Amino acid sequence: MSEFQSKIKTIEWVKTQTGGHSLMVDQTKIPYAFEKVEIKTLKSMYDAIKTMIVRGAPAIGIAGAHGCALFALELLSKYAPTEDLWQNITHVTTENLDENKRNSFFEELEDGFNYLNSSRPTAVNLSWAIGEQKKVVENSKNLALKDVCVNLINNAIKLENEDIEINKKIGDFGADVVPKGAGILTHCNAGALATVGYGTALGVVRSAFARDNTIKVFADETRPRGQGAKITTFELIKDGIPVTLITDGMCSYFMRNKMIDMVVVGADRIAANGDTANKIGTSTVAIAAKYYNIPFYVAAPKSTIDLSIKSGNDIIIELRDEDEVTMVNGKRICAEGVNIINPSFDITDNTLIAGIITEYGIFKPENLKNIENC
Ligand code: MRU
Repeated sequence: MSEFQSKIKTIEWVKTQTGGHSLMVDQTKIPYAFEKVEIKTLKSMYDAIKTMIVRGAPAIGIAGAHGCALFALELLSKYAPTEDLWQNITHVTTENLDENKRNSFFEELEDGFNYLNSSRPTAVNLSWAIGEQKKVVENSKNLALKDVCVNLINNAIKLENEDIEINKKIGDFGADVVPKGAGILTHCNAGALATVGYGTALGVVRSAFARDNTIKVFADETRPRGQGAKITTFELIKDGIPVTLITDGMCSYFMRNKMIDMVVVGADRIAANGDTANKIGTSTVAIAAKYYNIPFYVAAPKSTIDLSIKSGNDIIIELRDEDEVTMVNGKRICAEGVNIINPSFDITDNTLIAGIITEYGIFKPENLKNIENC
């Protein structure tokens, strides 16, 4: 394992006496700088997700879990301040706080969780992780407020650690379908920096490279925000995995010239029928891959699969600021007055997907519902 890959934790909880805070890689700075920022409040977590300091579905999920714990700590200092959160954990209600105040704490907490959930709409991991924290609150309703905070922090740390383990399993299942010496095309960034570590699509690449160091990656630049050019190439170069950067319109050229043997991408939300929302441009790659008979795989954890929705038609697509399209490096690249529509994700039809690589194995889209019992 390379130094970068073994050390990087895109987002982690830092424990302190009063509870702690979230520490995350600022992805808006990559590849120019590799810096971490401390996030200490619900509002700053909302902004970090919205402005894409943290991005990528699984990383956003953990950011959501951290944000819930941060807000509980903010409310604790308002309702029942404590000097040392980790002392005298009782697991029963011991505090001398009237019932109305306890109820207000829980009401405000719920409002804060819902506010955080509204920061980005497409990646289901955010609402999944906040849902996991809501369960913790539900099971902690009879505890002292500080114990509620302890439980939320511990659950956030648990989800954080599980994410890396899940990605390694995805990587190992995925490596089984990578042909020897393959050229692998990926779109956007579904690497260590889109998760807590290791990555989903790039987890497959990492596991495959560990078995066969003759594989090579083609990375789409991923307009408008350039996650492929800025982040995927950064990660792969650090890990010594050969990577060629191509622009988004080039994939057909490389497919026709037999330089691509498979495609693997991440996902932001997968419907019960396997339709997959991922970064804008993904479905174009999938359509080209089908034409050239190249297998197209999606790599994602179970938490990205939303069995509550039947098809991709039910997935809300985030529309982002028009500046992302009109401006490059702070300079306008088009005439004033032009119309802009900037959808951040598109839906890849299930008929284009050879398999969905999860921590429980590889599912054909038509069998995806079976993951419910895993
Ligand atoms: O808008 P982003 O950068 O958060 O979008 C990320 C993607 O589309 C990724 O490819 C997807 O989340 C998978 S992340 C493992």
